[in-house]
Amino acid sequence: MTKITKICCIGAGYVGGPTMTVIAKKCPHIKVTVVDLNEERIAAWNDPDTNNIPVFEPGLSEVVAEARGRNLFFSTAVDEAIDEADMVFISVNTPTKTYGAGIGQAADLKWIELCARQIARVSKTDKIVVEKSTLPVRTASAIKDILTHTGSGCKFQILSNPEFLAEGTAIEDLNAPDRVLIGGDSTEEGKEAMQALVDIYANWVPRERILTTNIWSSELSKLTANAFLAQRVSSINSLSELCEKTEADISEVSRAIGTDSRIGPKFLKASVGFGGSCFQKDILNLVYIARSYGLQEVADYWEQVIIINDHQKKRFANEIIRTSYNTVNGKKIAFLGWAFKKDTNDTRESAAIYVADHLLFEQAKITVYDPKVQESQVYGDLDYLRSRDPQENRFGVKVTSDPYEACKDAHAIAILTEWDEFKTYDWQRIYDNMLKPANVFDGRNLLDVEKLKAIGFQVKSIGTA
Ligand code: NAI
Repeated sequence: MTKITKICCIGAGYVGGPTMTVIAKKCPHIKVTVVDLNEERIAAWNDPDTNNIPVFEPGLSEVVAEARGRNLFFSTAVDEAIDEADMVFISVNTPTKTYGAGIGQAADLKWIELCARQIARVSKTDKIVVEKSTLPVRTASAIKDILTHTGSGCKFQILSNPEFLAEGTAIEDLNAPDRVLIGGDSTEEGKEAMQALVDIYANWVPRERILTTNIWSSELSKLTANAFLAQRVSSINSLSELCEKTEADISEVSRAIGTDSRIGPKFLKASVGFGGSCFQKDILNLVYIARSYGLQEVADYWEQVIIINDHQKKRFANEIIRTSYNTVNGKKIAFLGWAFKKDTNDTRESAAIYVADHLLFEQAKITVYDPKVQESQVYGDLDYLRSRDPQENRFGVKVTSDPYEACKDAHAIAILTEWDEFKTYDWQRIYDNMLKPANVFDGRNLLDVEKLKAIGFQVKSIGTA
């Protein structure tokens, strides 16, 4: 029986950091070392003040404070940590390719391959290698090939253990997951490796929630889960547009269908569109994989989820322009929220970026307030699009740490993230300091429309006439 006493996790990002922190908390008998090439990120994880760790998640800094230095370590000494570990998690980024074959769709696996080569190069003992990153189905065979052919004779078992946490509720999700999925080989060694990982999770996850499958099913289940979740968002968003034409109300439609136990109430909230580092990337990857097997209809089906999401973001921006007498040139538009969802500082693929980009083409002047996102991040996100010179982004967009300042003298306010604090603002004060007519575009259907209208605002929500 393989007993794990030392774990190494390569990648100290939004997944590696929180996931390993919870494993360390729940398994004080296991030494967990999270490594990353990014020195700044590791320094931030090691900041004596745990409020400064690089990932904001409710409850995370408290758990880091409890486990760090006891059995949880953050380090840039990647080789050493791999070498001493019995089990190595790969939790590095797998973004959409920006070059070459599969550009804009396929997952870029160069960091995964680098990890596999590094593990093979430095390992002096047998190890279990766990895919924590989201990967295209059949990636494990490539990892196995690299480990077998470039290693120095050590034996490796490859497991797939995709992560299903949602940013914003990561600690809650890790403490009580709906399920943990572990895929591995059906050989005796494969089963033993799976059992070793099952035993780790069994320290706090009920055994019936730990599912074991073959490795390809496990890899594909993660892409499938994200595709289904995103598909629900695009389904409801597509109908929100129909509601706007027909005087049906999308929140009433969601409630009505959500009570059907076959459909269920979750993920049926209309919005400006989904963001985040995963949904789009994983669906594009699924589309690419289907096309690469010649499954044109399957690929087209899933691609539509992305098409509707892009449409929803553009439609939201166009509604701001249309309501502003068809021009936002020189007009101040206040953005409340920049993160892709509440309770995270992650802005990757946030709808706010694309709405801002569209409005900047129309020469709007945008002021952004987000409780957890820094100015440099906002500019970095816009610069990354390469739609215009960085100076133009800085000319067109200002970032402030005061929401009232953001809204002062604005023609319109756009709600881009569903932060709870927005509901508690002094909306009368905001109204008094805005230009009139004072428009609010609620991209998250967050605010109390009747209350705002009573103050004098004109409010446009998603999916109501
Ligand atoms: P991230 O970009 O926040 O973190 C990845 C980290 O890996 C970076 O800090 C990077 O410096 C490091 N890294 C890359 N190559 C390295 C190497 N060779 N050696 C050492 N460090 C290296 O990415 P995130 O969000 O944590 O995602 C990681 C994986 O987990 C992706 O495959 C993603 O699809 C998947 N995932 C992400 C979820 C999320 O909510 N962010 C949820 C579930 C899965």
